[in-house]
Amino acid sequence: MDGSVPSELIDEGAAWLRAGRVVAFPTETVYGLGADALSGAAVARVYELKARPARNPVIVHVTGPAMAARLAASWPDDAERLARAFWPGPLTLVLERGPGVPDVVTAGRETVGVRAPDHPAALALLFRFGGPIAAPSANRSGGVSPTRAAHVRESFAPEEVLVLDGGACPAGIESTVLLLAGGEARVLRPGPVGAGAIAEVLGRAVGAQTDAAGDTGGLASPGLLARHYAPRTPAVLFGEEEWPGVLGRAARVAVVTHRARSVPLDHVLVVLPGDAPGYAAGLYAAVREADASGADLIAIERPPAGMDASGRDAALWHAVADRLARATSG
Ligand code: TXA
Ligand code: MG
Repeated sequence: MDGSVPSELIDEGAAWLRAGRVVAFPTETVYGLGADALSGAAVARVYELKARPARNPVIVHVTGPAMAARLAASWPDDAERLARAFWPGPLTLVLERGPGVPDVVTAGRETVGVRAPDHPAALALLFRFGGPIAAPSANRSGGVSPTRAAHVRESFAPEEVLVLDGGACPAGIESTVLLLAGGEARVLRPGPVGAGAIAEVLGRAVGAQTDAAGDTGGLASPGLLARHYAPRTPAVLFGEEEWPGVLGRAARVAVVTHRARSVPLDHVLVVLPGDAPGYAAGLYAAVREADASGADLIAIERPPAGMDASGRDAALWHAVADRLARATSG
């Protein structure tokens, strides 16, 4: 599957967007729930469908730097460098917002998040529509992000949301969100593009903040609430030393692991690849499968966290660990 979507469906998607309606589309990370970013009413509909808190801003998807620069108050050299290095790709730049971006997009903040997605269907839709598309992940607020069209269809009715099916999202983990405003460069949400790779391009240190409560006490990236990306079934993380004891914690345990394991028949086993790109690509589908299995508990085996990994793998494992911590908290 190369992720392409028939051109008539791209046309239909662009027509829906022009009509102020909502279109779900694949990106390289996860499916987005998109609306015309310059229409406050259209974006408000996305919040409504997701039941998303009004204070959590959405990312605006663009074709590239030219479209992004029109949404921001200015287009700093750092943004240009990072866009050249990583776009299209899984890096969202949070910049001072320009005039014309509806308040609902930025949740009333003075910044706007922009990224060019590296996916043929997403880019085709952006070019056909000819404008920026605001899109959070296409799941109900707080739930697990969708990496397949079927995941999106589970959450939204076809009269409400046109789903462009581009198959499985290749990266599987949401974009890195980088605050690039007020002279700062700080990772607000870890993702496939690591802080080290960003620092290398910028030629200076890059900060990290992966917790909801920042040093200011405010929510720098309001999406980073502790319980997020969470299945409905209670979920825990376990280490290798806890095997097989973890199976005693509930009558029916759904084990999500990257190791060769077997479980007795009353339990469920969901196996992920052991390499970072494979694990990240399969994680959300695996958690959804475990959630749908009827288990009383989801037990996720701690992945190998950056062990003997290249820079890219270390970034992916770090992002995976962040999502697993959120999925299993509370
Ligand atoms: O990979 C992705 O980023 C996917 C695909 C669809 O592009 N989108 C995504 O959107 O994950 P969402 O809404 O689920 O997460 C967006 C994150 C949230 O944590 C949000 O708070 C943060 O980006 N964000 C967006 N705009 C922001 C802003 N102006 N300031 C701070 N954080 C912002
Ligand atoms: Mg989301």
